[in-house]
Amino acid sequence: MEDFAQILLAWYAREGRDLSWRHTHDPYRIWLSEIILQQTRVAQGTAYYHRFIERFTDVTSLAVASEDEVLKLWQGLGYYSRARHLHKAAQEIVARFGGRFPKTFEEVRSLTGVGDYTAAAICSAAFGLPYAAVDGNVYRVLARLFDIDTPIDTTSGKRQFAELAQSLLDPANAGSYNQAIMDFGALVCTPLHPHCEECPFSQHCLALAAGMITQRPVKRGKVSVRDRWFHYLHILCKEHTVLCRRIAGDIWQGLYEFPLLEMSSADVEIKDLCTSADFQKWIGTDWHLRQRISLPRHQLSHQRIHAVVWQIEVPKLTELAVSYACPIAKLEQYAIPRLLERYFEILSETTK
Ligand code: ADE
Repeated sequence: MEDFAQILLAWYAREGRDLSWRHTHDPYRIWLSEIILQQTRVAQGTAYYHRFIERFTDVTSLAVASEDEVLKLWQGLGYYSRARHLHKAAQEIVARFGGRFPKTFEEVRSLTGVGDYTAAAICSAAFGLPYAAVDGNVYRVLARLFDIDTPIDTTSGKRQFAELAQSLLDPANAGSYNQAIMDFGALVCTPLHPHCEECPFSQHCLALAAGMITQRPVKRGKVSVRDRWFHYLHILCKEHTVLCRRIAGDIWQGLYEFPLLEMSSADVEIKDLCTSADFQKWIGTDWHLRQRISLPRHQLSHQRIHAVVWQIEVPKLTELAVSYACPIAKLEQYAIPRLLERYFEILSETTK
């Protein structure tokens, strides 16, 4: 796709996140943010970033600190060798570069704890050098957009993705480009339920067209069967319920189902569910949980679906729910997955 970078940068200008480390070209700060963000998400990492910057204002102050103090500041993030490498690299910068952060890709890459990804992220954001940073987000976005089935955890896969990423990079805007594709992967082309309906590339996305979105990227190490945890909201409002049509790019395309919250576990309580934005959009704040029904595990060729149906009564449908309202008497007219047929069978058995 010729104008990939332009479309991506336009999206980033509209939707990109305003994050502290994006307001600086100081390589020390950018390096710190990258090391922290390899370990945790932005929401948690931001507080650690500020604590580190406040305590260690530059490379030298980090280098001369005790390892204990560095580890203490890192506490809670886990994987403490990252913190030790950070500390060691600061000492290398003092010893080898006189305390000034190195300015070439090779020198940055030579620091302890800095791999290709981190070196590219730092050099592009701090110095505008034209290196594509390839992290998990980038693998996912590219594997989907180009429907690539080469496993990302192989040498040849890594090379293929690195070359593709480099060819798509806008060299004049390398820093923004790398931040943009990371955000795009984190906000739109998400692992579990990507927002294809609002994706500026949906017309070009080969995996979407092929119905392969959830199968990309491919990992060799992984068996091809994967587990998914579906939490359905069976909304009851007088004579109505709420029914959605499944979109392309996933299983059961075109079939109907209740509003779905996909989670990473079946072990969810109503108090976990009801705080999610999606729950509130579908249900609102005035509701009554009638029952929670776990369905038998549902085996597909490449997926195992663990589903729970939450039967919830509401006095009034939300604005969103109204637009998907379906008279209960008409439910039978809709094609639903076998999994939900089982649900209705279980209901009729238990109410007999
Ligand atoms: N994850 C890793 N690096 C990041 C960055 N610079 N911004 C947001 N998330 C990230």
